[in-house]
Amino acid sequence: MSAPQSAPLSRRDLLKAGVLGSAALAFPLERSVNAGSVLDARMPASKLPVPFTVPFATPPVLAPYRSYGTTDHYRVEMKPLMADVLPGFKTPLWGYNGLVPGPTISVEQGRQAVVRHVNNLPARHPVLKYAPWTSVHLHGSASKPQYDGYASDVTNPGQYKDYQYPNFQAARTLWYHDHGVHHTAENVLMGLAAQYHLHDPLERSLPIPHGEFDVPLIVSDAMFRNDGSLLWNNNDESGMYGDVILVNGRPWPVMKVKRRKYRFRLLNASISRSYAWSLDSGEPFTVIATDGGFMPSPQVVKSFRHGMAERYEVVIDFSKYPVGRRVVLKNTSPKNNINYTNTDKVMAFTVVGDDFDPTDNSVPDQLNPTNPVMALQVSDAVATRRIDLVRSNSKFTINGHTWDDVVASGHSLVEASPHDGDVELWEIRNLSGGWFHPTHIHLIDFKVVDRNGKPPMPHELGPKDVVYVGENETVRVLARFEGRGKYMIHCHNLVHEDHDMMSQFEVLGPEAGDDPLGDPCQSLPEPPDDDPVAG
Ligand code: C2O
Ligand code: CU
Ligand code: CU
Repeated sequence: MSAPQSAPLSRRDLLKAGVLGSAALAFPLERSVNAGSVLDARMPASKLPVPFTVPFATPPVLAPYRSYGTTDHYRVEMKPLMADVLPGFKTPLWGYNGLVPGPTISVEQGRQAVVRHVNNLPARHPVLKYAPWTSVHLHGSASKPQYDGYASDVTNPGQYKDYQYPNFQAARTLWYHDHGVHHTAENVLMGLAAQYHLHDPLERSLPIPHGEFDVPLIVSDAMFRNDGSLLWNNNDESGMYGDVILVNGRPWPVMKVKRRKYRFRLLNASISRSYAWSLDSGEPFTVIATDGGFMPSPQVVKSFRHGMAERYEVVIDFSKYPVGRRVVLKNTSPKNNINYTNTDKVMAFTVVGDDFDPTDNSVPDQLNPTNPVMALQVSDAVATRRIDLVRSNSKFTINGHTWDDVVASGHSLVEASPHDGDVELWEIRNLSGGWFHPTHIHLIDFKVVDRNGKPPMPHELGPKDVVYVGENETVRVLARFEGRGKYMIHCHNLVHEDHDMMSQFEVLGPEAGDDPLGDPCQSLPEPPDDDPVAG
């Protein structure tokens, strides 16, 4: 390839020009176009672990520290840790309760949760030197505006905030992650992400795998410096891509599985990477749930595309394999990711001959056939809105707006103002061939109506809150807006979100909604009679 002599092309320009359009990107090109000296310090591939040698583990489940009536109280402290990620090295990270990923919170429908999130991070990021203000978002929850992790509602180091979660929705896999304005990508890559499971009676009654056979898989990717610390490279604000794939914080782990069905709660917690899953055995996945919970009926697929922040619950049946067989979860990578030698591998399962509990080992033909989101029809919509995902003046924008525009408007700028109870059809357009934008609408669950006029893919036939809006795709989604107040909409490539592909909408009702900035954080120390640890 030939680049102009005077001004080397940035990755963005190359992406625009279509030069880097294909999935594979050779390392020498990477060095020549971008961040050369930073990448010189990259951990050599020879020092990275051999895939499928590190044992698999799941994050611990967090217990409430006290319960009153129907409310459970949790305390989570964001703090630095020296993590064992790559064998033989220590990685400085930030974790909820000092864990990466953070502890899983597991709640029952009908019981409210109050989570005290304490920011005990250092005053500055160790490498990037920004002040790590945070805002915690429970992704998948219809929380009130002031507890939704509004990007500008920040908690600085030395402060805390009590977040209230209603837990009235249908059973689902949620996740909590940082959403602090302009530093979400860095804060999440440092480790501020975890799952949150909402259970309900329907879920409990289904004969699907439960308990030890219901397993979180939080997939992310990272690149490391040769001292074991994270390597920071956002490729001219287009995305952060690692050469190491992590599952629950461990590089390419291997999990022992019994000869039966397992349910995996698969979350793409990567900053910018999307995946296309398959098993090396050629066997299919049975997709049973999407972001907003169970699908009307399961979908059997050999492969599926998974954008950032989407959750898919899949059942894999290991009874088909002989004891000793290793099954590899592979990534065949959608386009416009930056790939490396082992980013096509994710984790492995080794089939063992142990006894197991044979109950709850099936997938019924119907899961949640009456989900109201999936019953919505285009004819129910009282308004159609257009959401254009555009790059202009070297910013990623939503309808030409950035979060800085929202801030400059005194947080009054909105892209849409549905009335409480209204059904609306949103047409989300990505007119670029250079980027994909998994688009997240806060507050609501939606139904994917179509993509470029064609039916949604089988794995998307369930309630969603993020939709993959691929290169030159137009995706229509349908939702009933219930609630009140202002909520964010953004691309979940967190580098795009930070620079600055995020705006908001407002759900209107007879009285005004709560102000998303209306319940500010408090300063530490916690009041003695209110100290969850002492109390
Ligand atoms: Cu998972 Cu607004 O984000
Ligand atoms: Cu969200
Ligand atoms: Cu994007």
